[in-house]
Amino acid sequence: MIRKCLFPVAGYGTRFLPATKSMPKEMLPIVNKPLVQYGVEEAINADLNEIALVTGRGKRAIADHFDISYELENQIAGSSKERYLDCIRNVLEKGTFMMTRQREMKGLGHAILTGECLVGDEAFGVILSDDLCLNNEDDEGVMAQMVKLYNQFRCSIVAIQEVPLEEIEKYGVIAGEEMGDGLFRVSSMVEKPKPEDAPTNMAVIGRYILTPDIFDILRETPPGKNGEVQLTDALMTQAQNGCVLAYKFRGKRFDCGSVPGFIEATNYVYENIYAEGSS
Ligand code: UTP
Repeated sequence: MIRKCLFPVAGYGTRFLPATKSMPKEMLPIVNKPLVQYGVEEAINADLNEIALVTGRGKRAIADHFDISYELENQIAGSSKERYLDCIRNVLEKGTFMMTRQREMKGLGHAILTGECLVGDEAFGVILSDDLCLNNEDDEGVMAQMVKLYNQFRCSIVAIQEVPLEEIEKYGVIAGEEMGDGLFRVSSMVEKPKPEDAPTNMAVIGRYILTPDIFDILRETPPGKNGEVQLTDALMTQAQNGCVLAYKFRGKRFDCGSVPGFIEATNYVYENIYAEGSS
């Protein structure tokens, strides 16, 4: 059974400067809720209640967010404003939170390897909270869909989405044989290819389930694209040695690591979730 979900939240968030100079990108709110909380809620909905955060310098606000704010709570206890705390209290009740720091930003693969001390020798979920995933009405979240698949196939799984070829250079890209129902057995994976070199338009987005052998593979993986330890390279090794599945998930995904995606998500959540809930 998978119990843990790793959140690499150590990145600099340069695309949001100056907002992210002293504030973590993951604390930027989509309407009134920080990005990282959406991710944690998705993990908890998939019964991954042990949340492992790989943070870095300047990210203390994330640790504070997942703790009680004694003064604030005391101040508004019993008032009509107390209801604004309901959704974070719910997360704190269900989740346990662990943290470690990535001291040097050497890439996503390195951040995941840094999280080994929190994960140990078991399969785990990974959520990149700057990819906001929202489930369709009456459907489960993306991580819950992936956990079901893991229970069936017992191997690493990456979530994929078809993207226009002109945007492919922003993503890891897979090729593979379709096994049915939007599930592919990965035969190759490339990080940020030029459109003319992309094997397909199937882009990996920020949801993974990884088996723990990934840690040994990451240790042996040399820095790749941009001099960073690339998770994509480690997953390619895993696919060659065994099996990695790619899953075309159900639901919506917004690239909140970019300003246009962030604005799109904000408008969507305001119109379809926040406004409806507050009326
Ligand atoms: P990004 O590529 O979006 O990098 O990382 P970033 O630094 O957050 O943002 P920009 O490009 O500077 O604007 C993808 C995910 O991997 C994490 C990030 O926090 C983000 O969730 N990450 C990346 C780490 O935790 N450590 C790293 O060394 C690199």
